[in-house]
Amino acid sequence: MALAEKHIANLAPYVTGRSERDAQALYGFSEATPLASNENQLGPSPRAVEAVRRAAADLHRYPDGSGRELKRALGAHLGLDPAGVVLGNGSNEIIELVVRTFLRPGEIVLFPRRSFVVFGLVTQSAGGVPREVAGRDRDIDVDAILAAIVPGVRVVFVANTNNPTGAHIGRREVEKLRRAPSRPTSCSPWTRPTSSTRRRPSWSRAWR
Ligand SMILES: Cc1ncc(COP(=O)(O)O)c(C=O)c1O
Repeated sequence: MALAEKHIANLAPYVTGRSERDAQALYGFSEATPLASNENQLGPSPRAVEAVRRAAADLHRYPDGSGRELKRALGAHLGLDPAGVVLGNGSNEIIELVVRTFLRPGEIVLFPRRSFVVFGLVTQSAGGVPREVAGRDRDIDVDAILAAIVPGVRVVFVANTNNPTGAHIGRREVEKLRRAPSRPTSCSPWTRPTSSTRRRPSWSRAWR
């Protein structure tokens, strides 16, 4: 008997974007700019580099795992109660927390077709049902998403700007989602997966 549950064993591992070096080796380019993962092409802020350098001297200590100071600073900057600030080690962690907090096995997570691959992976790993909503061409179709909110839908993810298509929705469309009667759980921004690579749903492929 397999040790892992079926929905875990059927997970297709996430395929990361090619590195600059891999792309150069594969295609013989003398120069390559990775654009596959929404990375900033301008380099890090010098202030972030300086903060990392300073923090390196304290590597022998546990960091402030609850992010107390950062929450306080963000709360003051944004005029929010720090108790309402949720921090993640990258937004992937927030996506995972949303699913783990709100989704029960068998419930549905909606997201636009050809969207961020992690939405489906995290849903499947929690025993949920990923459901893609088709849009016109590669657009994010907010009306189609709203129409797809049926009983059993627990979370809606909309990546804005979308990865990997670059599709974007404006403030009015975001507001429309926010005002949806059944209140999607998250606005950050799919076919049950099979173990067959050939018939994998679109979210389990790397859109590169
Ligand atoms: C739409 C979207 N959400 C979340 C992430 C994860 O980003 P992070 O590095 O913040 O975990 C990515 C990364 O490419 C993304 O494209």
